[in-house]
Amino acid sequence: MPWKSFAILFLTVAYWSAPAIAEEADQSPVVSGRDEYVWNCAECHGQDGRGKGPLASALIKPPADLTQIAKHNLGVFPEEKVFEIISGAGDVMGHQSFQMPKFWERFQRSEGKRGYDPADVRIKAIIEHLKTLQEH
Ligand code: HEC
Repeated sequence: MPWKSFAILFLTVAYWSAPAIAEEADQSPVVSGRDEYVWNCAECHGQDGRGKGPLASALIKPPADLTQIAKHNLGVFPEEKVFEIISGAGDVMGHQSFQMPKFWERFQRSEGKRGYDPADVRIKAIIEHLKTLQEH
């Protein structure tokens, strides 16, 4: 590529990407638990939590129906247990076969970056959203 067209390409890319970078830096660090859920969980568990996300049929084990968590626990939402499941802590509830990402590790990779809350804050926000999905 002659240097002139390279320079033009470079300037064009720099021009178009500048507003995007500025926008990202201004992004509010707080996203709702609902948004976190939609971005991180809905592909498998579905927007409504019933386990029918677009990726569900590609998995060996169907994603759990997240609207029934409280019902399966005598009507009480087991917050700590769910926190561990989402975090990916060991083999909670015999879930060694987990085809689910370990969100603690995943969220920790973004920790400290502008626009991202610490892993535990994000997981707790997701749990608050899960509580709103419970059927009693
Ligand atoms: C790649 C697909 C996938 C993604 C993404 C995913 N999950 Fe899962 N999840 C599963 C599968 C599959 C199971 C069932 C695993 C099993 O029973 O061994 C499961 C099980 C669960 C369970 C256990 C429910 C129960 O009653 O036993 C919870 C809670 C859960 N997921 C929450 C979440 C949350 C919250 C997110 C997003 C932060 C998420 N999952 C993202 C696939 C996924």
